[in-house]
Amino acid sequence: MHNKSLAIYIHWPFCKAKCPYCDFNSHVRREIDHERWLKAYITAIDNHADLMRSTPISSIFFGGGTPSLAKPEMINAILDKIASLATISPPVNPPSVDHLPMAPSAARVERTRYVDAMGLNTKSYPMEVTLEANPTSIEISNLKAFREAGINRLSIGIQSLRDDQLKFLGRQHSAGEAKNAIKVAAQYFDNYSFDLIYCLPNQTIEQWRQQLVEAISLAGPHLSLYQLTIEQGTVFAERYAKGQIKMPSEDESATFFEVTQEIMEKHGMPGYEISNHAKVGFKSRHNLQYWQYGDYLGIGPGAHGRIPNGVDKLACVDYKMPESWLKSVELVGHGIEFIEKIDEEQAMKEAIIMGLRLSEGMDLDRLHRVNMAEVDQLIADGLLIMKGCRIAATPRGKLLLNSIIDKLT
Ligand SMILES: C[S@@+](CC[C@H](N)C(=O)[O-])C[C@H]1O[C@@H](n2cnc3c(N)ncnc32)[C@H](O)[C@@H]1O
Ligand code: SF4
Repeated sequence: MHNKSLAIYIHWPFCKAKCPYCDFNSHVRREIDHERWLKAYITAIDNHADLMRSTPISSIFFGGGTPSLAKPEMINAILDKIASLATISPPVNPPSVDHLPMAPSAARVERTRYVDAMGLNTKSYPMEVTLEANPTSIEISNLKAFREAGINRLSIGIQSLRDDQLKFLGRQHSAGEAKNAIKVAAQYFDNYSFDLIYCLPNQTIEQWRQQLVEAISLAGPHLSLYQLTIEQGTVFAERYAKGQIKMPSEDESATFFEVTQEIMEKHGMPGYEISNHAKVGFKSRHNLQYWQYGDYLGIGPGAHGRIPNGVDKLACVDYKMPESWLKSVELVGHGIEFIEKIDEEQAMKEAIIMGLRLSEGMDLDRLHRVNMAEVDQLIADGLLIMKGCRIAATPRGKLLLNSIIDKLT
């Protein structure tokens, strides 16, 4: 048995339309055979039964694509399947999440049903179970059913509360629908988050400040705030190359970031990671598992995993194209395209790339292969700071994170 915990990521690869800025593994298909997909997920989960039986599961995350387009019955069946395999509950009150009712360690993962304060007959899992949702009406009408299936954290892709920006981003919803989605989410989930994209072409700091304050008034305990990035291979990348999109300068984007941190701190939701903000007790346990370089299992097209292998880790990658993944699962019982051992050097690099994103930073121990003169220089330059036996990026360092990581890896 491993004393570490395991996060499970399930990837649903379909969307209604492809957003022009997005390079996630998301695809538009006219017809989706939901039954066939459910069977495949169940088979792929079964393939990892031993790992799930032997490792406490600390979180489950349905990401995409747009997993809120999957049927609630599918989410329900997948959760039932995982619960039937997992026999060990997560550690009691892990430090970052103090709001979830944690079962005593070494007990079974109890999936209880109870009628909650909102009168819902809800399944309850002793771990964080997140679903990403888009704010279109059909998905919002399913929120109650997702809650009843056992989802206890919702992450909504709002992106903007302004119609002109939603149009620019090619989104399928209006600002009105976005606000309504947040209202409905708040009805069924006390742990909900939403994403906004800022630092857009022609956006002023003042406009963003106003939108952010409005967002905070609608927010639950968590917000994810991303600066627009032009990703290779996207429609935006083409338009950017042709000069049709003009992005804010580096200095402007630094100011956007600083103003964002200041406003969020003032409102009691400080950044715990470059783009993520939470009230006390509501950091995303699942995402922390990535940033703290814990173990996670990825299931679904293009999903990545870092799974335990004795004291080391194995890197697993599933087939990226939905049809290839589906065929592989049906033929051989899993969708894994390749699996390889991660050596110590690579593990350290990955731990640095993830760990320095966190405000709490990372254990100095993890840097054992780094040239310490380089670390001392970054501290002298005011980019890194030592906090006891941890090392973290300073506010200025957060703006220059990529170059810090380049120097250390
Ligand atoms: C997996 S994606 C999308 C989830 C969901 N399908 C949606 O669109 O709302 C998670 C988040 O990444 C952010 N994102 C995606 N592409 C981005 C880009 N190019 N620049 C900045 N943020 C991006 C968006 O805020 C998005 O909600
Ligand atoms: S941003 Fe979300 S909805 Fe848009 S294509 Fe990407 S995953 Fe799909």
